[in-house]
Amino acid sequence: MPVIKNVLIWDAGRRDAQYGDIVTGESGRINAITPPGAGRGDVLFDGAGRCMALPGLVNAHTHVSMTLLRGLAEELPLMEWLHQRIFPAEDKLTPANIRTGADLAMLEMISGGVTCFCDMYYFMNEVADSLLDAGVRGALCRGLMGEDEKRIYENLALAEEYNGRDGRVTVQLGPHAPYTVPREAVRKIAALAKERNLGVHFHWLETKGELDTFRNEYKIEPADYLESAGLLEVRELILAHSVWFPTEQLARVARDNVTLVHNPKSNLKLGSGYAPIKEFLESGVRVALGTDGAASNNRLDIWDEMRTAALMHKGYNLDPTVAGAREVLKMATVNGARGLGFKDVGLIQPDYMADVIVIDMDNPRYVGCDETNAPEFAVYAGSSRDVRAAFVAGKPLYRDGEYLTLDKDAILSRARADRLALVRN
Ligand code: NI
Repeated sequence: MPVIKNVLIWDAGRRDAQYGDIVTGESGRINAITPPGAGRGDVLFDGAGRCMALPGLVNAHTHVSMTLLRGLAEELPLMEWLHQRIFPAEDKLTPANIRTGADLAMLEMISGGVTCFCDMYYFMNEVADSLLDAGVRGALCRGLMGEDEKRIYENLALAEEYNGRDGRVTVQLGPHAPYTVPREAVRKIAALAKERNLGVHFHWLETKGELDTFRNEYKIEPADYLESAGLLEVRELILAHSVWFPTEQLARVARDNVTLVHNPKSNLKLGSGYAPIKEFLESGVRVALGTDGAASNNRLDIWDEMRTAALMHKGYNLDPTVAGAREVLKMATVNGARGLGFKDVGLIQPDYMADVIVIDMDNPRYVGCDETNAPEFAVYAGSSRDVRAAFVAGKPLYRDGEYLTLDKDAILSRARADRLALVRN
């Protein structure tokens, strides 16, 4: 059986890290964790006692194909960013562009240890095929706007074709945001999700203006809106951003089927604010981490999000205990996986899927890293540059700079050509 040998293993289910071998089975699940050197079978990777193994990172809110729009809209507030730059550029994207942008994102995410992502966009069958070919896992939805029945039909067709595919895809319905989808339409989408046993992925209270609109125009509090729309009843509800979620209403979403996705860098860059993570954690809601799209970040790098989240809330709260390294690593792994509907992903334990990344500790920033402090080293000293290998369901996707499922040079040249055509037209 395939073995990842002699690595320092940490996941959110354990306090101390431990040296050991990760033995995987034919089903792509972890069979056993043995003492170092005791795992028998084909060697997938030999860490030689100088590598750390973590669960694959989860990017719980993004728009992967926006990698082609990176740098097109800089230093603008959200509504200008969307209406003046992003929506007009998106009008020009073809299905082939969507595939290229997704493939480009796969290169960036896999080499940075991201093995699972959650995406909202359009021509989503292109994103699904990119995901399947790359070998990663993900939660996909078609972004829905207005009361457009055609888009809802496309989203349902996506679910028909891909939901549950190869155990690596979940499909949600994707109402874009309360300000682009009327309340009655959101209610219908939630009812449809419940009827089809699908989740919902929603942009939620990203800016202060959205909270003001709830109160001044819709005359409803956000938690009441979620409840009255039926959104709290769907298979999984993924609320991206939640920057302006009134903290006294958080207890209403502390449910196993609801996940708030913190996107610290995108929120900072667009000047949207900072989500109240201290209060999120105190209220018991599940929190995951996302990058948002590459046009507002501009990286799809979860290491960056972990570090930013772990630092900014300490400064903001004048409290160095808020958003500790272990908490943000949990957000970036098992919390993201559960939120996206993957119940057996995100821990390095027997019977969990073997979605594992290997980090180089033979590097100046890891001197002193041991069983007691591995998560703190990873979050405060680590970086995506340290990722040496990525596995999904025990299958190697990336090892020592080589992509095993993707043709890097071909994707880069296709991406350069697509981008050039996009800005010239
Ligand atoms: Ni977004």
